[in-house]
Amino acid sequence: MKVKMKMKTFFRAVSLAAVAAVGLSLLAAAPASAASDGEKPIDMQWSFEGLFGTYDRDALRRGYKVYKEVCAVCHAMEYVRYRNLAEPGGPEFTEGQVRALAAEITVIDGPNSDGEMYERPGEAKDRFPKPYPNREASAAALGAYAPDLSLMNKARFGGADYVYSLLVGYEEAPEGFAVTTGYYNRFFPGHLIAMPNPLSDGQVEYEDGTPNTVEQMAKDVTHFMQWAAEPKLEQRHRMGFQVLIYLIALTGILYFAMRKVWADAH
Ligand code: HEC
Repeated sequence: MKVKMKMKTFFRAVSLAAVAAVGLSLLAAAPASAASDGEKPIDMQWSFEGLFGTYDRDALRRGYKVYKEVCAVCHAMEYVRYRNLAEPGGPEFTEGQVRALAAEITVIDGPNSDGEMYERPGEAKDRFPKPYPNREASAAALGAYAPDLSLMNKARFGGADYVYSLLVGYEEAPEGFAVTTGYYNRFFPGHLIAMPNPLSDGQVEYEDGTPNTVEQMAKDVTHFMQWAAEPKLEQRHRMGFQVLIYLIALTGILYFAMRKVWADAH
C-alpha cells in the first residue's frame, strides 16, 4: 500500500515537471507587450504564431517582392543573403530563381590581381544591397535614418502586429494636431514619422492573382520580415514538438518502469 502511494507521488511529480516545462516554453513564446504613446497595434492572426506555427510560402514570396520593389529603395536588410531565399523554412525559391534574383544587382568586388576593384553581377552568396552606404547618408536623404529591416520584427514592441499596423496606419492628422515634420501615423510613437506612406493599392504586381491591396501588401511584407528576423522558426517549432513527444513518452516509460520495479514489493 505504502509503495503504491510512493509510486503515485512519483508519477505525479513527473507529470507536474512535464506540465511545468510545457508551461514555461509557452511563456517564453509569448510576444512582447506593446508600450508606446502610439496606438495599440492591431491584433493580427499570423500563421507563424503559436507552438506549431509555420510560414506561408506564398506570402513570403509576395512579401519579398514588396520589400524589393518598395521598401528596399530606403531600407537595407543586411543580414539576408540571396541564398537564404532558397533555404528550407523560408520562401523556398529554387536555386535557379535565386541566381536570377541575385544577378539583378551589381556588386563591387575585388581587388583583382591588378589591385583594382571591379563590378560583377550579384551571386547567391551576396547580401541584399544597401540603398545608402551608412546611417548618415540615409538620414541626410530621408530626414531620418531608415533602419535596417532584417531584425525589425524582433526589435519593436508588438513585433509583426506593430509593423503591419504602422504600414496601414497613415491617415489625416486629427483636428488640432500640428504636423510639424514628417507624416501622421496612428501607431508610431509620437505619431510623426519621417517615412512617407510607402504603400498604395495596386502598387506591386502579384503573379499569383492575390488582390494587391494596401492591407495585403502590408501583411505579406510583414510576413517576409518575420522570416528574415527568425529564419529558423519552423525548425525550432518542430524541435519543440519533438521534445514534447519525448517528454510524454518518457513519462509513460518511467511510469511502467516504476510499476515493474515495485511490482513484487507489496
Ligand atoms: C521613402 C523612403 C522609405 C520607404 C520607401 C520605406 N521606408 Fe520605412 N522608414 C523610412 C524612414 C526615413 C524611417 C525612419 C522614420 C522615423 O524615425 O521617423 C522608416 C522607418 C520604418 C520602420 C520603423 C518604425 C519605427 O518604429 O521606428 C519600419 C518598420 C519601416 N520603416 C518599414 C518599412 C517597410 C516595410 C517599407 C516597405 C513597404 C518601408 N518602410 C518603406 C523610409 C522609408
